[in-house]
Amino acid sequence: MQRLVIPLDERSYPILIGPRLITPEHILPYLGKGPVLVVSNETVAPLYLQAVLAALEDHPHSQLVLPDGEQWKTLATWERILQHLAEMGATRDCTLIALGGGVIGDMTGFAAAAYMRGVRFVQIPTTLLAQVDASVGGKTGVNLPAGKNLVGAFHQPAAVLIDTDTLNTLPQREFLAGLAEVVKYGLIRDAEFFSWLETNQDRLLQREADALAFAIHRSCANKAEVVAADEREQGNRALLNLGHTFGHAIETATGYTRYLHGEAVAIGMCLAAAFSEYAGLARPPLFTRTRDLLQGLGLPTTPPEDVPAATLAAHMRLDKKNLQDRLRLILLREIGDAFIDDHYNESQIIEFLQGHAG
Ligand SMILES: NC(=O)c1ccc[n+]([C@@H]2O[C@H](COP(=O)([O-])OP(=O)(O)OC[C@H]3O[C@@H](n4cnc5c(N)ncnc54)[C@H](O)[C@@H]3O)[C@@H](O)[C@H]2O)c1
Ligand SMILES: [Zn+2]
Repeated sequence: MQRLVIPLDERSYPILIGPRLITPEHILPYLGKGPVLVVSNETVAPLYLQAVLAALEDHPHSQLVLPDGEQWKTLATWERILQHLAEMGATRDCTLIALGGGVIGDMTGFAAAAYMRGVRFVQIPTTLLAQVDASVGGKTGVNLPAGKNLVGAFHQPAAVLIDTDTLNTLPQREFLAGLAEVVKYGLIRDAEFFSWLETNQDRLLQREADALAFAIHRSCANKAEVVAADEREQGNRALLNLGHTFGHAIETATGYTRYLHGEAVAIGMCLAAAFSEYAGLARPPLFTRTRDLLQGLGLPTTPPEDVPAATLAAHMRLDKKNLQDRLRLILLREIGDAFIDDHYNESQIIEFLQGHAG
């Protein structure tokens, strides 16, 4: 088992990574004195809920199994968690355990942030994306009809338990989408890791345990450093959005049905790399290395042909991170060196997208 600490003064917490972590020895130390509520969904509960409940031994607990899907990441579902806590008579010393992917993690974390103005919670992320991204960093929240993650809070967990065995049941498409966020860390700040990914892509695709544990650990370590330096995203935490401005535009333009988030981010990272070369900010082979690795990992690398450049650029302009008419982009100087750029406007993006053949 590997252990990593997110250094945030009195809010510091460990991330444990390894197989067979859903055991009393790894869970009990992070619980408060009061009762525990385990929150999961209809897909994950049949697979892992019994193991978690067994690991709680005689610690008083309850369970709540929610429907599966991003469409349930709402205030109404969030309220169900709070109601359940109240009906249990949960006091301030209770603990929430989030057992599932990023949807369950974000929503349970937000319930923990709000119940009695903040109670303890433990993350047991079960998708690769949640293990390397959503469970680390303390962002919690739900969607509104007007947009994703519009309501939420910063609330750090007491611990993140990454049981790598849970990945064995993850559908292939979800697994690959998680790898896109892994590649992101290499691109933004860890060139050595990027090279390791190039060399070890087949081991990852085989879900070889050691390779996965290494990639997860290295991803979490990178995210931890970024978050520790900028917990509330006033500066460099924004680098974690590499590929996301293009990616969100692709998700929005295709109605959130065609691509998984990680797939859209893979395309977005290719576009960010290509744009960096196009704008003369970076030199080849930045783009081809980026594209080849993502392609090797079975991810899409070109924007959908049926979405016009102007439509994508218009969605990018509406991104909430922009300042006036300048788009806020995360661009690359080279592999492992990303920066925030707001020199470019919508028409320059359209020109680039029209000329970019992939
Ligand atoms: N808080 C953050 O910093 C942060 C960062 C990135 C993403 N997110 C959020 O995370 C969410 C996406 O997370 P996700 O990709 O994990 O999606 P998800 O939670 O919807 O999980 C994807 C699918 O995999 C299933 N699943 C989960 N674990 C499984 C397992 N071990 N075996 C089989 N099936 C399993 C789920 O039930 C679901 O159907 C989005 O809502 C996004 O906004 C948050
Ligand atoms: Zn993402």
